[in-house]
Amino acid sequence: MSADAYKPGLEGVPATQSSISFVDGKQGILEYRGISIEELAAKSNFLETAYLLIWGVLPTQEELDEFEHEIRFHRRIKYRIRDMMKCFPESGHPMDALQASAAALGLFYSRRDLENPAYIRAAVVRLLAKIPTMVAAFQLMRKGNDPVQPRDDLGYADNCLYMLSEQKPDPLAARIFDVCLTLHAEHTINASTFSAMVTASTLTDPYAIIASAVGTLGGPLHGGANEEVIAMLEEIGSVENVRPFLQQRLQSKAKIMGFGHRVYKVKDPRAIILQGLAEQLFEKFGRDQYYDIAVELENVVAEELGHRGIYPNVDYYSGLVYRKLGIPTDLFTPVFAIARVAGWLAHWKEQIEQNRIFRPTQIYTGQHNVAYTPMAERL
Ligand code: SDX
Repeated sequence: MSADAYKPGLEGVPATQSSISFVDGKQGILEYRGISIEELAAKSNFLETAYLLIWGVLPTQEELDEFEHEIRFHRRIKYRIRDMMKCFPESGHPMDALQASAAALGLFYSRRDLENPAYIRAAVVRLLAKIPTMVAAFQLMRKGNDPVQPRDDLGYADNCLYMLSEQKPDPLAARIFDVCLTLHAEHTINASTFSAMVTASTLTDPYAIIASAVGTLGGPLHGGANEEVIAMLEEIGSVENVRPFLQQRLQSKAKIMGFGHRVYKVKDPRAIILQGLAEQLFEKFGRDQYYDIAVELENVVAEELGHRGIYPNVDYYSGLVYRKLGIPTDLFTPVFAIARVAGWLAHWKEQIEQNRIFRPTQIYTGQHNVAYTPMAERL
């Protein structure tokens, strides 16, 4: 590639060939294994979607029951990992606790047997099962509580929401949370999935891979944006202040959190579904004071930046949904991670089936034949 053709951020550069998901950024289309996100959100659930992403087919009822049973069996986390988490500072961000805890799983399951389908399945089950429990455990321990144990009478999504919100979920709330997990499960080669693939390409263990991906997801330009959106809406404070706020942000060239996307140049199809979920929750449980501000900001950004393809992305309305579900703000990105583990694992499995270590090249802009300057002669 010539220096002229080079674009930072690997823009437009294919990193792999994959059959897991598809995005059309102009049409606003997202498909998992060829099935539209709208159909999966309406008819499927997260565990079934995770199975579809990882093994490439929708499970039979028997396969899904077996998958759920295995996950239920592995939901608890080792006491030693819980004791390790007790040493983490209460002020720490849950994404950092999750990254450390996910990596720690490798201490217990470090043997690598990547040729063995049973090893792959065991890692998939353990990570899908334990990631939610680890997020909840840290949240509760830093509040001085004993970690709530997953309940055997609740399904996967209900249990996640119960552990994160510390209350038995209303059926509508649990269903909406399940849809949120499906919406966040996979999205082709985003930064955290690319991170997972690069780590996977060295044939290391899946726990190190998930720890890499969690660390990448946490940044404010990626999964960390959902938390930033709420802070932004709180800063705006009123519908009347939306325009002045936006003008100030545009003048300072600062990014508007929850807007823009490397691929979507229309409203993210997931944002459309999440906005509908928010409205369902508001109808049953009362309106969120920031929703009207969010809608006004979306309208004004469309006026100012729509011509440049800058519209709401998945992180724009998700925070308003999670607030209404009773999830603490600093757990919004860990919720994203709970869902995206499915996509990261799907790409891990696909990567090791066709593996070659990632080793890109560069465009060198430095000097050559530079003489070594002795210390005494340095200024
Ligand atoms: C996710 O990739 C994925 O699929 C990610 C994700 C997934 O499911 O995995 O969809 C999840 O990460 C969603 C994105 C969450 N992040 C944010 O909401 C943070 C705010 N958004 C921006 O930082 C930005 O839009 C990105 C990071 C999402 C995309 O970055 P790009 O493609 O590198 O775009 P860019 O920063 O080069 O911007 C291009 C132009 C710039 O203007 P110029 O310098 O050319 O004049 O568009 C402008 C930008 O200033 N722009 C914005 C903007 N996003 C882009 N201007 C104001 N506000 C914004 N949000």
